[in-house]
Order: sequence, then C-alpha cells, then structure tokens
Amino acid sequence: MKVLIAILAFSAALVAAALAAPPAGPATVTFSARMGETTFPHALHQQLKIACETCHHTGIEPAPRCATCHGPQENAPELKDAFHRQCVGCHHEREAGPRGCRDCHRKP
Ligand code: HEC
Ligand code: HEC
Ligand code: HEC
Ligand code: HEC
Repeated sequence: MKVLIAILAFSAALVAAALAAPPAGPATVTFSARMGETTFPHALHQQLKIACETCHHTGIEPAPRCATCHGPQENAPELKDAFHRQCVGCHHEREAGPRGCRDCHRKP
C-alpha cells in the first residue's frame, strides 16, 4: 500500500511539473518584413541556454508576441527597434550570430 501511495504521489508530482512548465514555443519564427524575410531559430536560442527572461522580459506567461506591446504601447520602444536592439545587440555583444542586414533579411 505504501508503495502504491508513493507511486501515485510521484505521478502526481510529474503531472504538476509538466503543467507548471511554460510552453516551449515554436521551433522557428518567420517574420515577413519589407526588408526581406527573417527566420528566427527559437529552439536553437533556447539550446544556447539563454534565459527566457532575456528576451521575454520577466516571466510573461504565456509569452505574448512582441508586437502586443511594441508598437501599440507608448512606453515601449517601436517594434523594429525592439527587435534590432535585442537581436543585433546580443549578436554584437557575443560576437556570434548574424549582424549584417542581409544576413538576417533574406530576399526570396
Ligand atoms: C533569444 C530570444 C528568445 C529566447 C531566449 C526565448 N524566446 Fe521565446 N520567443 C522569442 C521571439 C522573438 C518570439 C516570437 C515573438 C513574436 O512572434 O512576436 C518567441 C516566441 C515564443 C512563444 C510563442 C508566443 C506566441 O504567442 O506566439 C513562446 C510560448 C515562447 N517564445 C516561450 C519561450 C520560453 C519558455 C523560453 C525559454 C525556455 C523562450 N521562449 C526563450 C524570443 C526568445
Ligand atoms: C507585455 C508587454 C511587452 C512584451 C510582450 C514585450 N515587451 Fe519589450 N518592453 C516593454 C516595455 C514597456 C519596455 C520599456 C520599459 C523597459 O525598458 O523596461 C520594453 C523594452 C524592451 C527593450 C529595450 C530595453 C531592453 O530590455 O533592452 C527591448 C530590446 C525589448 N523590449 C524587446 C522585446 C522583444 C524582442 C519582445 C518579444 C520577444 C518583447 N520586448 C516583448 C513591453 C513588452
Ligand atoms: C542573448 C543573445 C541573443 C539574442 C537576444 C538573439 N540571439 Fe541570435 N544568436 C545568438 C548566438 C550566441 C548565436 C550563435 C549560435 C552559434 O553559432 O552556435 C545566434 C545565432 C543566430 C542565427 C544563426 C543561426 C544559425 O543557424 O547559424 C540567427 C538567424 C539568429 N541568431 C537570429 C536572431 C534573431 C532574429 C534574434 C531576435 C529575435 C536573435 N537572434 C536574438 C545569440 C542571441
Ligand atoms: C539579427 C537579425 C537582424 C539584423 C542583423 C537586422 N535586422 Fe532588421 N529586423 C529584424 C527583425 C526580427 C525585424 C522584425 C520583423 C518585423 O517587423 O516583422 C526587423 C525589422 C526591420 C525593419 C522593419 C520592417 C520592414 O522591413 O519594414 C527594417 C526596415 C529593418 N529591419 C532593416 C534592417 C537594416 C537596414 C539592417 C542592417 C543595418 C537590419 N535590419 C539588420 C532582424 C534583423
């Protein structure tokens, strides 16, 4: 009986952990822009062990799209600036990842 209870408790803990984990989000996100399409490898950045909060600010759950605030919200930088500061900023800081306009914005 004790063993059964232990197993039940363990399973309940696993379920709780799975429910508490934030959704991982898409593997890649494609942004269409006049400059040319940008593909963002989301899963790859998660594998680099960059904290979710680095990009999603404080644990916003579920992570809303950047455009929910950047653009409509006066106290938030414009969408283009938000992306460029975050994406290009980090690539410069780490001297890794695309930094040139055409390395990100691909024309078909
Ligand atoms: C390097 C930056 C970066 C990191 C690190 C990152 N994300 Fe994201 N994530 C993004 C961007 C950019 C998008 C696309 C947002 C958009 O479409 O406006 C996104 C999208 C998402 C979405 C989908 C949102 C939607 O409504 O379409 C979820 C969920 C998500 N991320 C969760 C996570 C979690 C959980 C982690 C940590 C394990 C994480 N992200 C780490 C940048 C990042
Ligand atoms: C819930 C609203 C909200 C969402 C969603 C959001 N932001 Fe922000 N963000 C803000 C506000 C407000 C500011 C300005 C206040 C501040 O600097 O904290 C800001 C500031 C920034 C800044 C400048 C300050 C800094 O941290 O360097 C960048 C870059 C940025 N956001 C990028 C993003 C990106 C990229 C996404 C999507 C992955 C995103 N934000 C999602 C509200 C949001
Ligand atoms: C906090 C740091 C950080 C942020 C923020 C970040 N990146 Fe990166 N990114 C990296 C690093 C580090 C690499 C290099 C990975 C490698 O070469 O192993 C990289 C690589 C890439 C690559 C090349 C992937 C490949 O297959 O070689 C693309 C494309 C990219 N990033 C796009 C973006 C976009 C778009 C954003 C903003 C939505 C972004 N990144 C935000 C750190 C970041
Ligand atoms: C690390 C990747 C990255 C680099 C490097 C980069 N961009 Fe972007 N850029 C983005 C992302 C992501 C967006 C947001 C896409 C959207 O608005 O849907 C964006 C948006 C834009 C926009 C607004 C949308 C549009 O096309 O009208 C312009 C203009 C732009 N970038 C021009 C540039 C120029 C010029 C350079 C070089 C100086 C550059 N970008 C470098 C990722 C990048």
